[in-house]
Amino acid sequence: MNTLSQIIAGVKFKNPIIVSSGPLTRKANLLKLADDHGAAAVSIKHIMTDQPFEGKSRWYFQPETKTLGVVSEPRLDLEDGENLIKWARKETGLVILANMSGPQGAIERWGETAEKLEKAGAHFLELNMTCPNLDAPSQIESASKDVKRVALGAMIGRDPVLAAAVTRCVKDAVKIPVICKLTSVGGAMVEVAKACGKAGADAVSMAAGIPGAPHLDIYDGGKPKVAGIEGKISFGGLGGPWTRLISNRLIADLRKEVQIPVMGAGGIWTWQDIVESIMYGSLLIQTCRSLMYKGFRLVDDWLKGMQSFMEEAGYADIPSFSGIALKNFCAPKDLEIVPVNAQVNQDECTGCKKCLDIGHCDAIVLVDKKAQVNNTLCVGCSMCTIICPVSAITMSADSQ
Ligand SMILES: Cc1cc2nc3c(=O)[nH]c(=O)nc-3n(C[C@H](O)[C@H](O)[C@H](O)COP(=O)(O)O)c2cc1C
Ligand code: SF4
Ligand code: SF4
Repeated sequence: MNTLSQIIAGVKFKNPIIVSSGPLTRKANLLKLADDHGAAAVSIKHIMTDQPFEGKSRWYFQPETKTLGVVSEPRLDLEDGENLIKWARKETGLVILANMSGPQGAIERWGETAEKLEKAGAHFLELNMTCPNLDAPSQIESASKDVKRVALGAMIGRDPVLAAAVTRCVKDAVKIPVICKLTSVGGAMVEVAKACGKAGADAVSMAAGIPGAPHLDIYDGGKPKVAGIEGKISFGGLGGPWTRLISNRLIADLRKEVQIPVMGAGGIWTWQDIVESIMYGSLLIQTCRSLMYKGFRLVDDWLKGMQSFMEEAGYADIPSFSGIALKNFCAPKDLEIVPVNAQVNQDECTGCKKCLDIGHCDAIVLVDKKAQVNNTLCVGCSMCTIICPVSAITMSADSQ
């Protein structure tokens, strides 16, 4: 008999799925849906004592890659956050993470906010060291003298000293476990995670978004193409399924270097992505855009998929396969390169010539309206297998 449940920092999660902080966790009716569809936990929308974003959310999309960029997203006020946590504790069986920051420019006062959220009933505090929208130095305006440098979001997450100070302050103030939500901004994620661990963090989570900038209206003076924004541009967190491979690497780095549990996130779209994230080192996962695109019903499918996968693969629980991929890593010079070539199934090839367009490849020629591969020239890159519209090409062991 296998189980999806685990105890992390003394708290039971019935499965590894956490709905991450964002638009899906800012209202009671959405928390109810998360609960009804079987998520183990939610991280409540970022709770702040000072509201940095006026008005409504402003996002932009790039449909081909399912990219969703966030330019502006109002936060919850402290009182709204406390009330939502109280409601969720009373009305749902969810584990509640409170995604939070303390007062702007006053790291020593984060403990005050933390205490209030603990009192409201949060099981965990999730310290927001991740939000790229709050990272003043990465914004164009940082060149202007008017911008006051306040330590919030990714600005903390890029600095091990600030991150440790915030963690220590909150740990001193509360008894409930503390998660530090890290960022890839600044490239110091592992160093920051280590510093947070030393300062007492009970777990790390990740992935609020990679800073990007929207497409421009090139015929209107380079104004941003974002519905509901007039003229000005702000960089904002990008994400979508294309970030999975980046997340895999970051999760592996964290798992190798940090002793506390890792909550992997970034681009999870299928239950197979969850398994992969666990194999790279996560114990729990967080997800946002997948459920924004497809709704909470996805969670039911994921749970079924994971349960049957674990049965089939013979894993009793999540820890038994968490991090198992790490043993397969080596330095590039130690890779065992096996010779392979492209092979064309002559019966399936329609002679469409698409594979002849591949820029770096001079191995394919058309003979009697069928593609043929010269094995001596084939470098084994496998791009033709992706380009061929009828899957007539496969890779197989080098026959020469
Ligand atoms: C519209 C939007 C709002 C978000 N708001 C928050 C937030 O308030 N706090 C936070 O820590 N992360 C926030 N995130 C980041 C998500 O929690 C998550 O870390 C990120 O989206 C990566 O996961 P995904 O690829 O599954 O979307 C937000 C993401 C989106 C798309
Ligand atoms: S595997 Fe790469 S090099 Fe070989 S035929 Fe295909 S595209 Fe050309
Ligand atoms: S892309 Fe596929 S179908 Fe088209 S010529 Fe090449 S092998 Fe044949």
